[in-house]
Amino acid sequence: MKELSHRTDCLTGDTMVILRNRAKELDRMTSGMIHMEVGEPDFDTPVNIREKAKEMLDRGYTHYTPQTGIPELKEVIADYIEESRGFRPDEKQILVTSGAKGVMFSSIMTIIEQGDEVLVSDPAYPPYLTILRYVGAKIVPFPLRGENFSPSLEEINEKITSKTKMIVVNSPNNPCGSVLEKDKVKGIAQICEDSGLYLLSDEIYCRLIYEGEHYTPCSDGCDERSILLDGFSKAYAMTGWRLGFGVGPKEVIKRMGLIMGNAVTCVPAFTQWAGVEAFKGPQDEAKKMVAGFKERRNLIVKRLNSIGGVDCPTPKGAFYVFPDFSSFGMKSFDLASKLLEEKKVATLAGSSFGEQGEGHLRLSYATSMENIEGGVNRIKDFLAGVPESGQRGRT
Ligand SMILES: Cc1ncc(COP(=O)(O)O)c(C=O)c1O
Repeated sequence: MKELSHRTDCLTGDTMVILRNRAKELDRMTSGMIHMEVGEPDFDTPVNIREKAKEMLDRGYTHYTPQTGIPELKEVIADYIEESRGFRPDEKQILVTSGAKGVMFSSIMTIIEQGDEVLVSDPAYPPYLTILRYVGAKIVPFPLRGENFSPSLEEINEKITSKTKMIVVNSPNNPCGSVLEKDKVKGIAQICEDSGLYLLSDEIYCRLIYEGEHYTPCSDGCDERSILLDGFSKAYAMTGWRLGFGVGPKEVIKRMGLIMGNAVTCVPAFTQWAGVEAFKGPQDEAKKMVAGFKERRNLIVKRLNSIGGVDCPTPKGAFYVFPDFSSFGMKSFDLASKLLEEKKVATLAGSSFGEQGEGHLRLSYATSMENIEGGVNRIKDFLAGVPESGQRGRT
């Protein structure tokens, strides 16, 4: 056979995939695994949303829809953006996609060419890096530092060259759980404006904030340079429904729509109607989930910090903690592998998210309080047998 496309060489799984697959394999072989590696709410999708989808299925909403989304959903997305971000996008600025990942993929495909430089935080959500590699971009990482895993505007500015085309930001952040401060948000928006750069702002966790507020860097109203990524997966426990949306400049959205249209045609009609219900129906369930996550966050941070040598900053958003274990002198992949094999607790290695993540683990607290207690106890047990080496990783 002739060779496969070399463009796809970069798509082979990273260490995150290895750990996830091994956890699944162990699950089949043994029982009692505590899963803290998963990036999805453990709650069910609220009943009213499920009922709406069932109703629409029964009413025959099982056919193709307009490629960029049904007008009813675009209308409620425009309402939501106006209410939460302070500007109202035109319907031509909105694209409904199969999960928020559809926005990630199609915006990068639309804007980035081989050799373009793209600034992405380190650590970052790995699919950004994979898609950027796939299109031949040069990834220029900017570190997230300190208690709030925050970028330095000076460092970002220093990394901009004539080849820079885009900055990717993600707040609240996966894997750190950090929320970008208002001055940083404004600063990044200004840098993009001054240097004529596109801005891809991943705001998928914006309704999962426990302290402070969410600010969008899309200060141009997504009219010229900003693409806002958001969706239903995290805030409404709808990960399996595959429903997300992007807001951006009309020409960018048009091309993103053509990419998604050629790939998947449209998002299923009954799923889009479930999205209308999610935004317009009662919000009590969604609010309960946020309260539940906050309680779990407080527990996991307290319990992790009670282990000598572990430093776990309190994240303000999302449902991840990113504690520093570097004083134990182990590579984060080795630590995650040992916890998995020896203690049956599944976590992700910080190094899967970038060089700055080395020494950390990403733990998801989208799991029960009981699992959090149990999982942290197992980690504590394991670390009791590992002497602290006194090295510290986070700068
Ligand atoms: C930062 C970030 N962006 C986007 C996504 C993708 O969201 P969706 O499941 O809606 O495609 C995720 C999912 O984990 C995420 O963590």
